[in-house]
Amino acid sequence: MNAIGRLAAGLGLLAAAGCVATPVQVGRAAYQDNCSACHGARGTGDGTMAVFVSGGVPNLRGLAARNGGDFPEAHVVRVITRVSDLHEGIVAMPDFGALLDASPTVYTAPDGERIRTDATVLAIADYLESIQD
Ligand code: HEC
Repeated sequence: MNAIGRLAAGLGLLAAAGCVATPVQVGRAAYQDNCSACHGARGTGDGTMAVFVSGGVPNLRGLAARNGGDFPEAHVVRVITRVSDLHEGIVAMPDFGALLDASPTVYTAPDGERIRTDATVLAIADYLESIQD
């Protein structure tokens, strides 16, 4: 096993022991802080703010099902990073400034587009992928 492999194995052990949060755990916490008010604690679109959003709030557990069974990771990254304008114009949409500035990174979408985003956003995408119906 090379150094990277040993490091990864060590991190896996730490994560298993509860010492280091996995991306899914980081994503779940960030989701609960920033998204659950509208999309609901379980992602089903029934957060306490949802009644104030005209047109309703989508169920994020159905993202893969609505995309032919494939989790649309790039779509999720675009929506949270505001490259997509899906979230624009929604009254009470918080500013995700802190979320988008914690650990800047670049995500390369399947179509080759390089999106400046944050590791926390990718962690939220991992979390959402883990809760697909
Ligand atoms: C103020 C309420 C609100 C908050 C907070 C919010 N959303 Fe949304 N979100 C919406 C609404 C409403 C839509 C649907 C917009 C439309 O279809 O025009 C949406 C759409 C989406 C979509 C696209 C769904 C689809 O079916 O294509 C994703 C993905 C998403 N939100 C993820 C998130 C994540 C992740 C967060 C937290 C970082 C978040 N949202 C925070 C209200 C919210």
